[in-house]
This record gives sequence, structure tokens and C-alpha cells, in this order.
Amino acid sequence: MRFNFSKVVVSLSGSFFDKPELICEYAKIFSKIRSKLEMFCVVTGGGRIAREYIAKAEILGLGERERHMLGIAVTRVNALLFGFALDFEEIPQSYKEAVKQLRKNGFAICGGMKPGQSTDKVAADIACMIDADAVINLTKVAGVYDKDPKKYQDARLLKELSYEQLEKILSSQKSSPGKFELFDLLAVKELAKREIPIFFACGKEPKNLIEILRGNNPGTKVCKKPVNWEEVIEKMEKEAKKRNAPVYEFSFRYPFQILLAAIISTRTKDEITLSVCKKLFSKVKTPAQLAKMSENELAELLKPAGFYREKAKKLKELARIIAEKYGSRIPETKEELLSLPGVGKKVANVVLANIGKDAIAVDTHVHRIANRLGVLHSKTPEETEKKLKRIVPRNLWKKLNKTFVGFGQTVCTPKRPRCRECPLSKICDFAKV
Ligand code: UTP
Repeated sequence: MRFNFSKVVVSLSGSFFDKPELICEYAKIFSKIRSKLEMFCVVTGGGRIAREYIAKAEILGLGERERHMLGIAVTRVNALLFGFALDFEEIPQSYKEAVKQLRKNGFAICGGMKPGQSTDKVAADIACMIDADAVINLTKVAGVYDKDPKKYQDARLLKELSYEQLEKILSSQKSSPGKFELFDLLAVKELAKREIPIFFACGKEPKNLIEILRGNNPGTKVCKKPVNWEEVIEKMEKEAKKRNAPVYEFSFRYPFQILLAAIISTRTKDEITLSVCKKLFSKVKTPAQLAKMSENELAELLKPAGFYREKAKKLKELARIIAEKYGSRIPETKEELLSLPGVGKKVANVVLANIGKDAIAVDTHVHRIANRLGVLHSKTPEETEKKLKRIVPRNLWKKLNKTFVGFGQTVCTPKRPRCRECPLSKICDFAKV
């Protein structure tokens, strides 16, 4: 099974360094995960030993800065322990070095960086620098509770929170050398700005890390706006189908047809794309046949569609490449698809999603609806794609484009959306305004 994320930063509580078996297990897990992620960074905490040093420093009458520096030294020793276990002896001494290592090797393990903060803040800083997909905080407790679980027996584990809700819970905590509570408030603020999800889970069970990477939530998940994606997509789909959204008329099965339809559909209404495709596919069955067709004949066939002359030229060339270079099979990787004439990110993702690959195609409907719902804030389709991938479970990626398009054609229309009839109005930011 593939992981839900590709760039991940883990903050590992220093308390686990009192348990050699656990550290051994983590070393094995890290070395396996490493090869499966584009970038993987582990930040180790200081735990008991750091606190002991800080207490001794206090007795010696040392200042706050010195106490923090002792804390940093211990976190780095802990990082080095993993470093040796993983045949990786260079522990970054600065953010710059950490990011350099991540870019070069896809992996870095580090401790504290600057006096006066926690290793959670280090994890958040690095996550922002590499634009990570998630920060995973492995702590002693199962996640975020509504009140202190050490003091109150009836404390409730909160499964999903918004950044704002987490900030509210954390703002009641105080921090000093060796005493940062569940998570650093500054770290949350930073991650919230970048809309990088934060996961909290009990680190005593290393399998929780794998669970999170697979898209599950064994503890608490924090993001801009938690929603039940299964439910959201189901409601949208039901409504769009009930209202006969044009997008559901498309039922092309062959990858070649899906690719052509996706290219023809750019800057063209679905109804027109559909009629053009039906006419085209009745004449052309294979890339070789399309490559042989004259450009004028093809342009005539495409005519009602926008930019039909350019599209005719590009489709002919694309068909020739597919026939000659790929033996008439449609390539199945994003890079290869993007190298074809007329294929941009959206078209490539539409093809990939339709042939069963995990891809989210972002067009104007997806971009508009995601922003209106308030699950993310984004200015460009690229940013929307990146942010959706962080928050939508991977098994729903393929379905997302068609569902959002259908919903955008019928309910959440660009102008005058039907908010009063919308099944999502209760959770939508736009409907509330
Ligand atoms: P930790 O982040 O481990 O603090 O750093 P913690 O809250 O005690 O975390 P656990 O118990 O490991 O989960 C230990 C101390 O090191 C200093 C701080 O004083 C911190 O409390 N430190 C750490 C820094 O000053 N700067 C850093 O970048 C990191």
C-alpha cells in the first residue's frame, strides 16, 4: 500500500529514549519508511535526561539560555543515537543543513536548533521550509484531549480539530526550559499558516506512525477545517446525479478516448465536448488512424469546441507520438503524459484518475468549491491540488474531480450558487456568509 503523503516530518518525544527496545523498533521503521517517502525528517526530543541537565543547571544558578542550550545538546545526542543506528552520522546543526540533507538524501534526523523553543517548533519550521505534507507528533499520550488527562479521569480524546481549536487548548499552557507541554503554540501557528496537517498519536506504539502515513488517524488530526470526506463526496455525487450533471454523460472507457476527451474539453462546455467526442470516436478508433487524418478534416470535426484549429494540430501530433513511441498505448506516468502535446497538469491528472491511478485533477470547479467550502485557502489550481492531497484520503482522490465537476455544474455554480438547496450548506463557509 502506498503512503498518503510524500514529505513528512516526525517529532519524536524524548521520553522514548528511556526505552531501548522502542528506540530499536523505531530505528527499523525509519529505515524502511525512508525509501518510500520523497522527504522524511525525524526530530528527536530531549526527555528526562534533558530535564535532569536543566535542573542541575538551575542549581548551579545558570541562566535560561544556558539551560536551553543543555536541552538542545541532549536532543542532539538522541538524534545521533538514531543516526548511528541508521548509518547516518551527520546530525544537522542548523536549519539550513537539515534542509540541504533532506534535498540531497531525502532523509534527515536532528535535534534542537535555537535556544528557547521546543523540538516541536523545530519540526514545524522544517516542515514549512520543505513544504511538508504532514507533521506527525509522537507523544506519550494518545492525542489531544479536551482537558488534562493526567488530572481528569473523564478527559475526552479529540479525534479531529481545526488549528484554531488546537491553539485555544494550547494557549492555556506555559513553557520554560525543559517544559513544553503537548505541543508548541508557535509551531501550530506556523503550520496553520501553511495549512500543513498535524497528527498526534501515542508513540509507545510505533505502528501508529505507519497508520498515519497510510491515511488513518489513530489519535488526533488537526487541519484547517476537519470534514468527513466520504460523506462530503457522497452527498455531492448524489445531488449532482439527481440533477443530471452533464459530466456524468461521459462514459468513455478507453484511455485513448479519455485522453482525447480531456484535451477537447479544455475551454469547452461539457455538452459540446461530448457531441464532438462521439462524432470523432465513430470515425477514429486508434492513435494511428488519428495520426493519418488530415489536419483540416480533424479541425472540421472538432469545430464547435474552443480553439479547434490548435487542438487539431496538437491531437494529430499526440496521436503520432503515441503510435510510434508508445506502441499505441497511453503512457501511465505523469511525466510521460506531460511530455505529450496539448497535455497540461489537469489533463494528465484526469487521465491518471480515470485509469485508476491516485491523482486529483484540479479544474475551475474543484478549485472554486474547495475554497468556498473552506477546507483550504488557495490562489492557484496547483496549490489546491497540493493542499487537497494533504487532507483528502487517498482512496477518494480518483473520484474527486468528477464529483466536484458535477456538483459545480448543478449546485455550486460559479455565479449564483444554490446554497439554499445545497446539502453541504451547514459546513460551508460560503453558504454561511
Ligand atoms: P524538547 O523539545 O524535547 O522539550 O527539548 P520537551 O517539551 O521536554 O519534549 P519531550 O519531553 O522530549 O517530549 C528539550 C529542551 O531543549 C531546549 C528546550 O529547553 C526544551 O525544553 N530546546 C530544544 C531549545 O532550547 N531549542 C530547541 O530548538 C529545542
